[in-house]
Amino acid sequence: MIRFNKPSITNLEEKYLIDSLHNGIHSGDGKYTKRVYELFKQLFGIENMLLTTSGTDALEMASILANLAPGDEVITPSFTFSSTVNAFLLRGAKSVFCDIREDTFNIDENKIEALITEKTKAIYAVDYAGVPCEMDTINEIAHKYDLVVIEDAAQAVGSTYKGRYAGTLSEYGCFSFHETKNFSMGEGGAIVVNLEDQMDRAEIIREKGTNRRQLLAGLVDKYTWHDIGSSFLPSDLLAAMLTAQLERYDEIYKKRMKIWNTYYRGLSELEQDKLLRLPIIPENVGHNAHMFKILLPTEEIRKDLIDRLKEKNIMAHICYVPLHSSPYGISMGNKVEDCPVTEEVGKTGLRLPLHAGLTEEDAMYVIKSIKEVLG
Ligand SMILES: Cc1ncc(COP(=O)(O)O)c(C=O)c1O
Repeated sequence: MIRFNKPSITNLEEKYLIDSLHNGIHSGDGKYTKRVYELFKQLFGIENMLLTTSGTDALEMASILANLAPGDEVITPSFTFSSTVNAFLLRGAKSVFCDIREDTFNIDENKIEALITEKTKAIYAVDYAGVPCEMDTINEIAHKYDLVVIEDAAQAVGSTYKGRYAGTLSEYGCFSFHETKNFSMGEGGAIVVNLEDQMDRAEIIREKGTNRRQLLAGLVDKYTWHDIGSSFLPSDLLAAMLTAQLERYDEIYKKRMKIWNTYYRGLSELEQDKLLRLPIIPENVGHNAHMFKILLPTEEIRKDLIDRLKEKNIMAHICYVPLHSSPYGISMGNKVEDCPVTEEVGKTGLRLPLHAGLTEEDAMYVIKSIKEVLG
């Protein structure tokens, strides 16, 4: 069976988890959480970061930090996970869906400005498949209209845009360490606070609205309620697992990239024959091999391919079901035709199995099987 995804676990994850269990603290902000921060600094130069209980929670924290409120409008792609949009709907803000680019499937920066009204307060940009958005343009638009930009970099840990790391490209960056991502702590995430003066508030929001972290740091002698917040701080046990994953950064990255490149080379003749479309990576982007996605000519061909790969014990999955045309999206007054590119990619996109445990032979078997079905 070629599984779609499988976390890469070694003795190191086991060692740190057991150490954390017996010798660490089990609540948050213990020695492993601190090691995760050191590793982010070493690997990507990222410093103002807070671990969270999920990528979803990092996005929700960003909405609180951006002071989103009822009556506000937020521009976001519909081609994303529900968490991106729930994050600001929970604050009472309204979603305004923007279509995506045909090459990267990221928000189409050229279609943002037409959607801006007096109520627009923020843009949530999603780095789909670990490929960062055209952030300089998005930030320029945001600057012109005084909007906050939140980068949903859930899938983009380690990716770069013009040499800068994903997560650092706007006011707030949000990562996910869910088991389906490149680096896992089971369930978890992080927020990168790129506005230095917001870091204290971020710490308070993450700790149920209290300044408990200042107490732990010895800065105050008692802690109390300062703001709204929630329980966004993850257990140090989970940070132990993430520490091991990040210490194996090069190994995991190289293994994923090898499979990604094997797929790319192996399927290119099918692209020449117009039987599928391969991923397109802009020149100014360094991607992290999070996902290998192809576009099929029609929805029927995609369904047939999924079924026939399943018969060959290969698990391939569709990309997103667009949010604007989902039952909830329609109930909010969105129309299917609002985002035509998103609709098309939602019908014809397919993700191939990709994880660090796949071998070159596995990838060759997937390629051979796709050729048999499509050829
Ligand atoms: C683009 C995007 N945003 C947000 C999330 C939510 O992350 P998590 O599952 O860690 O809550 C995910 C992960 O599934 C995602 O892919």
